[in-house]
Amino acid sequence: MRLKDKVAIVTGAASGIGKEIAIIFAREGAKVAIADLDQKAADATASEIDPTGKRVVGVAMDVANEQQVDDGTAKVSRRLEVSTSLSAMPASRSWPPSSILNSPNGNG
Ligand SMILES: NC(=O)c1ccc[n+]([C@@H]2O[C@H](COP(=O)([O-])OP(=O)(O)OC[C@H]3O[C@@H](n4cnc5c(N)ncnc54)[C@H](O)[C@@H]3O)[C@@H](O)[C@H]2O)c1
Repeated sequence: MRLKDKVAIVTGAASGIGKEIAIIFAREGAKVAIADLDQKAADATASEIDPTGKRVVGVAMDVANEQQVDDGTAKVSRRLEVSTSLSAMPASRSWPPSSILNSPNGNG
């Protein structure tokens, strides 16, 4: 578990070398975003690696497009990192906290 509590965005990970890297990262404890041009293929690979959808998610992005990379990274932050905060949230607190809603990268 060399990557426990890390979040990795693996680009071109719906297939081939990227997919194999994503499998190894997930096995080593990382939460992984399967980033690819093809959202459907990314989602299929994500659910193949983690059928629960909690630790591995698909995200569409063209790595050559800065705006798409920024948007995709923000989505990953909300879907993977925020889920960690949720598990530690006292029942009396409202969800989602305004610090996350107001943050451009979802890190509060
Ligand atoms: N140097 C070497 O020895 C060597 C060996 C094998 C592969 N390669 C290169 O590594 C790369 C990956 O090979 P592979 O076999 O895994 O290929 P692959 O086609 O199986 O996988 C590439 C993935 O990247 C995605 N992708 C392509 N362009 C993208 C973009 N702009 N943004 C996001 N995702 C994108 C594709 O949709 C696909 O899912 C290729 O460029 C290949 O030529 C190099």
